[in-house]
Amino acid sequence: MAIPLPFIVVASLVLLSSKVSSETNTITQFQPLTYGTNLVSEEGTFELGFFRLGTSSNLYLGIWFKKIPQKTIVWVANRNNPINNTIINSNSNNSTELTLTKEGNLVLLSSNNTVHWSTNATAKSESVKPVARLLETGNFVVRDEKDNNSENYLWQSFDYPSDTLLPGMKLGWEVTTGLNRYLTSWNNWEDPSSGHFSYGVSRGNIPEMQLWNGSSVTYRSGPWSGFRFSATPALKRRSLMNINFVDNPMESYYQVFPRNRSMILRTVVNQTMNALQRFIWDEETQNWKLDLVIPRDGFCGYNYCGSFGYCAVKDNSSACECLRGFEPKSAEKWSEGCVQRSETRCRVKKKDGFVKVSNMKIPDTKTSWMNRSLTIEECKAKCWENCSCTAYANSDITENGSGYSGCILWFGDLLDLRFLPDAGQDLFVRMDISKIEENKDSSKKVVIGVTSIVSSIAAVLLIFTFFYRRRKGKDTKAKINESEEGDLELPLFDFDTIACATSDFSDDNMLGQGGFGPVYKGTLDGKNIAVKRLSDTSAQGLKEFKNEVIFCSKLQHRNLVKVLGYCVEEQEKLLIYEYMPNKSLNFFLFDDSQSKLLDWSARLNIISGIARGLLYLHQDSRLRIIHRDLKSSNILLDDDMNPKISDFGLAKVGKGDQIEGNTRRVVGTYGYMAPEYAIGGVFSVKSDVYSFGVLLLEVLSGKKNKGFSYSIHSYNLIEHAWRCWKECIPIEFIDTCLRDSYILSEALRCIHIGLLCVQHQPNDRPNMTTVVTMLTSETTLPHPEKPVFLMQRVLVEEDVGQNMYCPTNEVTISEVEPR
Ligand SMILES: *[C@@H]1O[C@H](CO)[C@@H](O)[C@H](O)[C@H]1NC(C)=O
Ligand SMILES: *[C@@H]1O[C@H](CO)[C@@H](O)[C@H](O)[C@H]1NC(C)=O
Ligand SMILES: *[C@@H]1O[C@H](CO)[C@@H](O)[C@H](O)[C@H]1NC(C)=O
Ligand SMILES: *[C@@H]1O[C@H](CO)[C@@H](O)[C@H](O)[C@H]1NC(C)=O
Ligand SMILES: *[C@@H]1O[C@H](CO)[C@@H](O)[C@H](O)[C@H]1NC(C)=O
Ligand SMILES: *[C@@H]1O[C@H](CO)[C@@H](O)[C@H](O)[C@H]1NC(C)=O
Ligand SMILES: *[C@@H]1O[C@H](CO)[C@@H](O)[C@H](O)[C@H]1NC(C)=O
Ligand SMILES: *[C@@H]1O[C@H](CO)[C@@H](O)[C@H](O)[C@H]1NC(C)=O
Ligand SMILES: *[C@@H]1O[C@H](CO)[C@@H](O)[C@H](O)[C@H]1NC(C)=O
Ligand SMILES: *[C@@H]1O[C@H](CO)[C@@H](O)[C@H](O)[C@H]1NC(C)=O
Ligand SMILES: *[C@@H]1O[C@H](CO)[C@@H](O)[C@H](O)[C@H]1NC(C)=O
Ligand SMILES: *[C@@H]1O[C@H](CO)[C@@H](O)[C@H](O)[C@H]1NC(C)=O
Repeated sequence: MAIPLPFIVVASLVLLSSKVSSETNTITQFQPLTYGTNLVSEEGTFELGFFRLGTSSNLYLGIWFKKIPQKTIVWVANRNNPINNTIINSNSNNSTELTLTKEGNLVLLSSNNTVHWSTNATAKSESVKPVARLLETGNFVVRDEKDNNSENYLWQSFDYPSDTLLPGMKLGWEVTTGLNRYLTSWNNWEDPSSGHFSYGVSRGNIPEMQLWNGSSVTYRSGPWSGFRFSATPALKRRSLMNINFVDNPMESYYQVFPRNRSMILRTVVNQTMNALQRFIWDEETQNWKLDLVIPRDGFCGYNYCGSFGYCAVKDNSSACECLRGFEPKSAEKWSEGCVQRSETRCRVKKKDGFVKVSNMKIPDTKTSWMNRSLTIEECKAKCWENCSCTAYANSDITENGSGYSGCILWFGDLLDLRFLPDAGQDLFVRMDISKIEENKDSSKKVVIGVTSIVSSIAAVLLIFTFFYRRRKGKDTKAKINESEEGDLELPLFDFDTIACATSDFSDDNMLGQGGFGPVYKGTLDGKNIAVKRLSDTSAQGLKEFKNEVIFCSKLQHRNLVKVLGYCVEEQEKLLIYEYMPNKSLNFFLFDDSQSKLLDWSARLNIISGIARGLLYLHQDSRLRIIHRDLKSSNILLDDDMNPKISDFGLAKVGKGDQIEGNTRRVVGTYGYMAPEYAIGGVFSVKSDVYSFGVLLLEVLSGKKNKGFSYSIHSYNLIEHAWRCWKECIPIEFIDTCLRDSYILSEALRCIHIGLLCVQHQPNDRPNMTTVVTMLTSETTLPHPEKPVFLMQRVLVEEDVGQNMYCPTNEVTISEVEPR
């Protein structure tokens, strides 16, 4: 139906001035497409030509539906390089045109011969007779007229999609040409230039459909499982669409066809929502009808819950849970994912196995391997063979969803798991089953919302369900299980594993010798650990050990030392901590050369860190814990000198509102003990506040309270602080090495807070909430009373001082009968 050339020329001239377009069917080397002329597909479904959007002066070359009254653009050639429309209006110049070169390349020229867009086709033979046509499918193609295979295109617009997928168009990639076809959203309604969002086929061993925001994945469909993508629901009714997904070593692509050929549809990456939308043209209402949105809901974005965590929609929000046998890496930030409670995977004693997790959207397949012809048993065996294989699942589903086959293996972290009751499948996750086989309900649930760190910790603690772990034949273990506090949440390690990690508790690995036993450095799964080995004769008996294990399993705060696990075997009692490279506070504070490393701001940071940790123990943790042995050697320092409170061997739980207890067993460390506790055995959160006050004064002064005497008056540290504060000469109190760097007002305020904390009457001491507020604000502080000088009375001489890393002469007093 070629229209004679002269007719075109005349028509285009006329129509340009009247702004009505003329039509043509082909573009050839001798017949370019000029502004004012449109190229129309054979049966008139699509139209290609120049268009403008809204009030913008930009002119684009593009394709739209001819039959549909509301202009719906499906493709834009020069989306990122518009022609300035004003040139045409002012000049009435018809030289804005799309030409076809003799090699078969399309070139879009504006009036001063600027190239705004061109194709890069490479014709196979020298003498081609190129012709450009718009096909009925909406595909704009350049062919060689001499080549009688009509499918051999020199170039086609379907290979360079804009934001719209049309039936028959392929999304995906070709290995040989390196071509990757994906949709990219417009920027906005008036600007078709490439926006943030795109949709296409992921590249990797196992391709799947993905949505991206910039370069980050925001949604993935799951791998193609024969008849659908694994994370899309099984079709409930006969679908209107046929989906074709091809995945072979040469290429990987996705296509959609309507079952009814006369149906008009388009699939678009939305410009504002980061979603894919499929629209069907409704003849009756003369409107586009939304048929499908991907993702289905706004919940559980890509990898929302991190590795080994999975997301579920609950009460209109996304909720995170850990897979069974796993626990959150950080209760404050779920996106960091979950870790195995026990790190013994693939160790000498093979205790690991596979646990089935049902209704899962299977994990990200970035690091996966697939073989469609393996059975699930062969799949399991394959996974078992390789220690880094973390999970396996079937790769294929039969059409009615009843049968499964094939094999996918995952290596490393499992990412982007989601609970999908209507589309998920069984996933088999490798874990240490010796830890979980008896624990039917280990699910942990927490709803993530815009909650404060504190409340999310509280929520985690509230919702955690604790459970028993039992091991047979271990006497001591049985005793732990009887504990009234109940259940343990910490991983239980093999003695052998820990012995191996510490080179058999070699002297080279010893970090220090505390009163309760030596502490060793070790390496477990590439991570440094510290292991406290309680000596048989240690005064920290089973009771204290139990205490510590139980508390540590329930407490998580950035200013508390993290206990990674424990071990009880025969006579051995081990606690495994995170390793603190900077040892403990006393190591720095009371050493002339080391103390220089702690400048003023580092000290303030340490004080407020300890205060926050203690506040968490007293108030924000469910348990309301009184530490009872706060002292500089129990404050460990991490790489960045952040303090972490350690050692819960003597800690007590105050249940509910009970904040006071009385004990016949006074334990603690002389110099830090509140008077009412040391003398009367009465302990409360306020006795911890007292110890905090002493600690604070020690941090400021670099002096120990115990054994301190100042000048002729032989004041103790507290009296000295009182005098310096009263006379407003903090410089006499502050550590000599700080004298250049400290800030007077801050120093006075800190000493003031310290003095308030060491008030003789517990009621006169602030609680930790108030202390934290005092430390961070400028509020007026109450006036302290002169502290009562506690008579130096050595209560007991038994040396059971406990220290993680450094031997000191500090003594933790145990078993004291109060008067
Ligand atoms: C288009 O051209 C006009 C006149 O040359 C100029 O004022 C205007 O800024 C141009 N617009 C764009 C978007 O380049
Ligand atoms: C039309 O374009 C030609 C070059 O393509 C240019 O020489 C001529 O000046 C333009 N006409 C007007 C009226 O600007
Ligand atoms: C319009 O374009 C045709 C060929 O495409 C050319 O022959 C004619 O001279 C042009 N007219 C003007 C006014 O530039
Ligand atoms: C003409 O082309 C030059 C570059 O070749 C460009 O810088 C200039 O803006 C163009 N002028 C118009 C009016 O488009
Ligand atoms: C054509 O090739 C050039 C240079 O290789 C490249 O800059 C340009 O983007 C290509 N154009 C298209 C439409 O692929
Ligand atoms: C295809 O074209 C070649 C020449 O280009 C010709 O020899 C051949 O007969 C044609 N085949 C058919 C089936 O038209
Ligand atoms: C896309 O990413 C940008 C920057 O990373 C972010 O600001 C924006 O909120 C994201 N948009 C959506 C819809 O997720
Ligand atoms: C196909 O769709 C067209 C238009 O929507 C409709 O008129 C026709 O009845 C449909 N045919 C079938 C077989 O459903
Ligand atoms: C994007 O989504 C909004 C809301 O559903 C809709 O109004 C808009 O038309 C969509 N954009 C495109 C390009 O389809
Ligand atoms: C969830 O949100 C939607 C829309 O905001 C609302 O219609 C629906 O009732 C909500 N459902 C629940 C269980 O809150
Ligand atoms: C898949 O497994 C079958 C059966 O074990 C084997 O013959 C085939 O080579 C495997 N394919 C790949 C790609 O590993
Ligand atoms: C385990 O699988 C990983 C990833 O495919 C591979 O790199 C490694 O070599 C395998 N190890 C063994 C022992 O097969």
